[in-house]
Amino acid sequence: MEQTVERKKRIFSGMQPSGALTLGNYLGALKNWVALQNDYECMYSVMNMHAITVRQDPAELRKRSMEVLMQYIACGIDPEQSILFFQSHVAAHAELSWILSCNTQMGELSRMTQFKDKSKKHADNINAGLFTYPVLMAADILLYQTDLVPVGNDQLQHIELTRDVAERFNFHYGETFTIPEPYIGKAGARVMSLQTPENKMSKSDPNPNGYIGLLDPEEVIIKKFKRAVTDSDAEIRPGADKPGITNLLTIYAAVTGKTVDEAAKEFAGQGYGTFKQAVGEAVAAELAPVRQRFEELSKDKAYVESIYEKGAEIASSIAARTMRKVYKKVGFIAR
Ligand code: TYM
Repeated sequence: MEQTVERKKRIFSGMQPSGALTLGNYLGALKNWVALQNDYECMYSVMNMHAITVRQDPAELRKRSMEVLMQYIACGIDPEQSILFFQSHVAAHAELSWILSCNTQMGELSRMTQFKDKSKKHADNINAGLFTYPVLMAADILLYQTDLVPVGNDQLQHIELTRDVAERFNFHYGETFTIPEPYIGKAGARVMSLQTPENKMSKSDPNPNGYIGLLDPEEVIIKKFKRAVTDSDAEIRPGADKPGITNLLTIYAAVTGKTVDEAAKEFAGQGYGTFKQAVGEAVAAELAPVRQRFEELSKDKAYVESIYEKGAEIASSIAARTMRKVYKKVGFIAR
């Protein structure tokens, strides 16, 4: 009897190894990556080529890149099921990026809010890579004919651009790229800083009390939540006038799988102290196994190496298929 095997849809996503991963990275992206693993063919990469758009210490970058890969696994990405690799191990990312940059307008790139923010933050190093960053990101995604890109809210604009560039390319050269869709989780798509809840929680925050590191020990996590900025009235409810409390409720909801309203009901009438303690404990309980698995993995370099080597091999062969197609479409002579 003939059997038709349907190809699973493909996911691609990644993180920059530009600092220790935070609870924002986890709730906005990694937790969803893990949940989607069974239903999709997943490729998760460490975006070290993106990281050098900001000045990096080479030894630190090498160390952090390895740690990010280990944190993917420690959070529950199964290397038997998902493809894990370093962006720089697949040369096609840079190759496709060049072709796509010839199909992206300066005006489109000038409108990117991340570029505007980062140019302000790194005014002494507004390099061309910082400007063309979203083109490399489009290449990452389109190279693998990706269907779905699970990310936090802040990456939506880049995915919109990726879709525009892919549609334009397909229009001019004929059907070449799958048009990807973003995937944003229900809760935690934008986790805010614990100290300045108007700003996104970020791994490059100079104040470590603003973010929870995925590898922070339990007592540090609880202490950081206790110090979280709230407000002067004592009501536990979400609202635009209560960014600190809203953020804590969102974090609690994302970790426990409850809705923000359910979380607010659970703590109604209680004091901020009890509430902060409960959020801290819930987060610490979620992250304790991550830290333990990370420590185990740190002792097994050979295993980790075997994963990213195999990942690079598979990713390269998928990428090569797309590159052959792209080179032919744009009129390059086959060799
Ligand atoms: P990066 O490294 O800044 O962040 C990695 C992922 O974590 C999400 N995230 C957050 N989600 C919720 N709240 C937060 N405070 C928070 N901070 C970060 C991000 O949305 C992202 O999903 N340009 C990308 C990396 C990248 C990429 C790609 C992603 C390069 N190529 C291709 C997807 C597909 C970035 O800088 O993410």
